[in-house]
Amino acid sequence: MARVSDDDFILDTPLVREFVAGVRATIAEAASPAEACDAIRPRFADLLADPEWLPARYQEGDPESGMGGGIGQWLLFRAGDRSLTLFALVVPSGSQTPIHDHLAWGLVGLYRGTQDEEIYARDERGTLERVEARALAPGDFYALLPPRDDIHRVRTTSPETSVSLHLLTNDTGCVWRHAFDEGTGEATPFRSGYVNVECPPA
Ligand SMILES: [Fe+2]
Repeated sequence: MARVSDDDFILDTPLVREFVAGVRATIAEAASPAEACDAIRPRFADLLADPEWLPARYQEGDPESGMGGGIGQWLLFRAGDRSLTLFALVVPSGSQTPIHDHLAWGLVGLYRGTQDEEIYARDERGTLERVEARALAPGDFYALLPPRDDIHRVRTTSPETSVSLHLLTNDTGCVWRHAFDEGTGEATPFRSGYVNVECPPA
C-alpha cells in the first residue's frame, strides 16, 4: 500500500523521472510561479516535441468520462504531497470540455491534434465573459497563473483526438473545482477524476 508521501510514477520511465526532477529543481529555485513557468518552458517544449514517450493507451478517450464527451484524463505522475501532477487530457474529435477552472498554476500544451480554446473571466457579479479565443496546434503551450487564464473551454477541431499535457501544481483530477454555465456564470463543483487512478472518497 503506497503511503500518501510516496511519489506516484504511473508512467515510470527515465524520461518522465528526469522531467519531474528537472521541474522540481526549477520550482525550488524560482521566486514566483510566473518565474517557475518561464524556467520550465524549454523542458516542457521538449516533452511536447518528442513523439515517442507517451504510450498509446494514454492517448485514448474514456466513455465513462467525469467531464463528459468521452474525454479521458490520464494521470502520469503525482507527487506524494499532491503538489504536482503531470497528466494527459484526451478530447475526441468534435468533443469539448465544460467551461472549467483548475485552481492551480502550471503549464498546459498541445501534444496531438488541434484545439480551439476559449478563455473566460468572471466579473464581480459572477458573470462570465469570453476574453480570448485561440486555435492551438501541436507544440503550442501556455501558462496558467490563476486567477488569470484559469477558466477555459477546449474543443477538438482535428479529425483525430487531441491530446494535451498538463503540468499543474495540484492534484487536478481529484480536487473539487468548478464547471461554469456560460449563460449565467453559475459555478457547479465537480471532480473530473482520472481514467487510471481512483480519487479518495468525496
Ligand atoms: Fe483545462
